[in-house]
Amino acid sequence: MFEGLLKGRSVVITGAGSGVGRAASDLFAHHGARLICADVQEEWLAETVSLVTSAGGEARAVRCDVARRADVQAAVAAAVEAYGRLDVMYNNAGVASPSSDGGRMAKFVDNTDEQMDRLIAINMRGVMYGCQAAIAQFRAQGGGGVIVNTASVAGMIGWGGVLYSSTKGAVVNMARALAMEVAAENIRVNNVCPGTMITRFGAGARGPLPDNVVENMAKLQPLGRVVDPMDAANAALFLASDMSVNITGLNLPVDGGLSAGR
Ligand SMILES: NC(=O)c1ccc[n+]([C@@H]2O[C@H](COP(=O)([O-])OP(=O)(O)OC[C@H]3O[C@@H](n4cnc5c(N)ncnc54)[C@H](O)[C@@H]3O)[C@@H](O)[C@H]2O)c1
Repeated sequence: MFEGLLKGRSVVITGAGSGVGRAASDLFAHHGARLICADVQEEWLAETVSLVTSAGGEARAVRCDVARRADVQAAVAAAVEAYGRLDVMYNNAGVASPSSDGGRMAKFVDNTDEQMDRLIAINMRGVMYGCQAAIAQFRAQGGGGVIVNTASVAGMIGWGGVLYSSTKGAVVNMARALAMEVAAENIRVNNVCPGTMITRFGAGARGPLPDNVVENMAKLQPLGRVVDPMDAANAALFLASDMSVNITGLNLPVDGGLSAGR
């Protein structure tokens, strides 16, 4: 019943080399999307593309640093070159709050200009570049189009470190404001807001986590489970597809109830 939700759609996914981006590449391709998988990490990207193509899907890798406008524009151009158009832009790439030397999250008062610039450039400006590049292409092909961003529950509540929470909060409200600006052109803008996931992100970057750490991460969610990257990808699929044709400006939590209250 739910096969082929993105049949024939041309989709760019940033941060496609790992975590949510890889899960979404797998899922979207399974639903018939034709993909441009974009990431700074070329080896991870190659693994994602191989995963998709070996399962019969269509995907091409594009090295892209979302903090660079020209790279993001090139990823959109690659979709147009390969598939003739762009239907869905999924701005998913993101990085965690910086760590201090001891591996714990650095305190806000200690955050340096470089740390602030990095998080703003990737998590905030990178999404803005993706939205701008997509909208320009949507207009060039006559209007209509879908933008999905990965924000975070950290953009809805004060959580995940001040820098990270600030950049994700910006993405949360950007989707609302941008949705208003482009609704008349039938361009939809929505965010997926995941809770705690175990990916290469943050603490996961240092390798597999001990069981007790995972158990504590699970307990953060009222439902008692860490969020699987595929949970977030499922929400992104819903927002990218015609299933959500009358939904725009939404921040959809995939957080086991974390943002709903205590
Ligand atoms: N892991 C969590 O707990 C969690 C929770 C909520 C939201 N998120 C968000 O989910 C999204 C995906 O994160 P993930 O958990 O899958 O992490 P991940 O680290 O597994 O994947 C992120 C991907 O983004 C890529 N990337 C990083 N900087 C980039 C850049 N400048 N340009 C292009 N690609 C870049 C990385 O190479 C990596 O492949 C991020 O936006 C993150 O903020 C993560």
